[in-house]
Amino acid sequence: MKITVKTGNVETLKTDAAVIMIIEGEKLGSAAARVDKALGGMVQKLLKRGDLSAKAGSVGMLYPDGRIAAERLVVAGLGKRSEFSADKLRLAAGKAAVAARGAGAKDVAIALDGFTLDQEETGQALAEGATLGLYRFLKYKTAKTKEENKEKKDIDALTVLTEKASTVKTLEKGIRIGEIIAASASLARDMVNAPPADMTPAVIAGIAQGLGRKHRLKVRVLERDAMRKLGMGGLLGVSLGSVQPPKFIIVEYRGGGKKPFIALVGKTITFDSGGISIKPSENMDKMKDDMSGGAAVLGAITNAAALRLPLNIVALLPATENMPSGSALKPGDVLRTMSGQTIEILNTDAEGRLILADALAYACKYRPAVIVDIATLTGACRIALGQEASGMVGTSDRFKQKMREAGEKTGERVWELPLWDGYCDLIKSDIADMKNAGGRDGSVITAACLLSKFVQKHPWVHLDIAATAWTDKDRPYTPKGATGIGVRLLTQFLRGYDRQGT
Ligand code: BES
Ligand code: MN
Ligand code: ZN
Repeated sequence: MKITVKTGNVETLKTDAAVIMIIEGEKLGSAAARVDKALGGMVQKLLKRGDLSAKAGSVGMLYPDGRIAAERLVVAGLGKRSEFSADKLRLAAGKAAVAARGAGAKDVAIALDGFTLDQEETGQALAEGATLGLYRFLKYKTAKTKEENKEKKDIDALTVLTEKASTVKTLEKGIRIGEIIAASASLARDMVNAPPADMTPAVIAGIAQGLGRKHRLKVRVLERDAMRKLGMGGLLGVSLGSVQPPKFIIVEYRGGGKKPFIALVGKTITFDSGGISIKPSENMDKMKDDMSGGAAVLGAITNAAALRLPLNIVALLPATENMPSGSALKPGDVLRTMSGQTIEILNTDAEGRLILADALAYACKYRPAVIVDIATLTGACRIALGQEASGMVGTSDRFKQKMREAGEKTGERVWELPLWDGYCDLIKSDIADMKNAGGRDGSVITAACLLSKFVQKHPWVHLDIAATAWTDKDRPYTPKGATGIGVRLLTQFLRGYDRQGT
């Protein structure tokens, strides 16, 4: 979909669908008011009757029948001005685009009216909302009938219409940023939605290498031999049951001269069966999403390169399947990790923390200014927070605050849980330095406690996305399936990054 900016009046633009956006409880903006006038007051009348609504996320469609140049008119609600935000605009753009596509439009124009974001943010939100709202995963659908083919049709061109020529440049800049970020989030969704047989550690390594060639990224992939030399007993241990060789993927972006690195670590379990502590079969198919953290850090570092952020970043993806077999890791085993610390295995389904232990230790080699890890780590995170926020635990108040701000801005919100000593007592082992599962109590936190033992003194933020990486129902500009969570959050965190006062 090509997104462009034009100046002009919406009522005279020839397009398959024109979109006007309206704020709840206010009179129509100037573009919407002119459209309404051309339609003989129809918009106002339908709003009053309740057939149209200005509530955030609502859309309605009218057929102007020649009274304006557009074939269709989409009326999208933005909600109340006091609650207006970039996220509301993403929501409205996503809903409007999907409605237009559903009606068969190939060419869509969105008219900007008097809402209050700055122009760059407006452009970014429109591009993100429309692109992510329109996202579909069709790779495995063969379309044979005419109907099926029609359903696959996409919007080719989106025009953002402004009445002020002075805003064009800034809007365009925002749109380019939004397009970059939405493309990476869509790639992350594609990776997570893909069947696990087609998204193995080797395939992910290949994707990373492809991104490396396209952007200014250095990519290295460590094989089992190199992992053995480094003593990565956690990653090697989890991979024991799988016929897919594990990969340790290292992606570096250098845009920050002599600045210290920011380390991003993403859990990349390409399928989590639970291993010998096997999961129930119900919903086990969803465990293809257990590489969402890896997809998120790959998307974020790609964005950093594409946006030329003045930072040095390393993304680390410990990648393996977690499978049961005659050679698999067993409850009772003890693993020696790269840091030298040992972990007693009580449950082979608590595998994420084992591979992250090695990746976090590897991150420390960079002496990073901050380590952020992102992982589909615990089912308990869904019990705690539902799907409205990802769990956050960490050691740096400043970076947790930055992450919170990035969450509010992107709508990928985070909520902090405490990392108190009492929780860490729950993973004490009788025979090793720690055990990998601490029982049901506070298990989002006990998992984080284990991770905290591998970050040394580096400021650290942990994000648990177990509940937010996947959605079973359509959410705002997020159709059901993989959400691509973390790509926009981490990208915003990086864009807002500033080292002073850590
Ligand atoms: N990948 C799962 C966590 C998960 C659960 C992600 C549901 C998405 C949806 C993780 O590896 C896991 O199995 N965690 C266990 C830990 C337990 C055995 C201590 C859990 O949460 O049940
Ligand atoms: Mn597991
Ligand atoms: Zn897992």
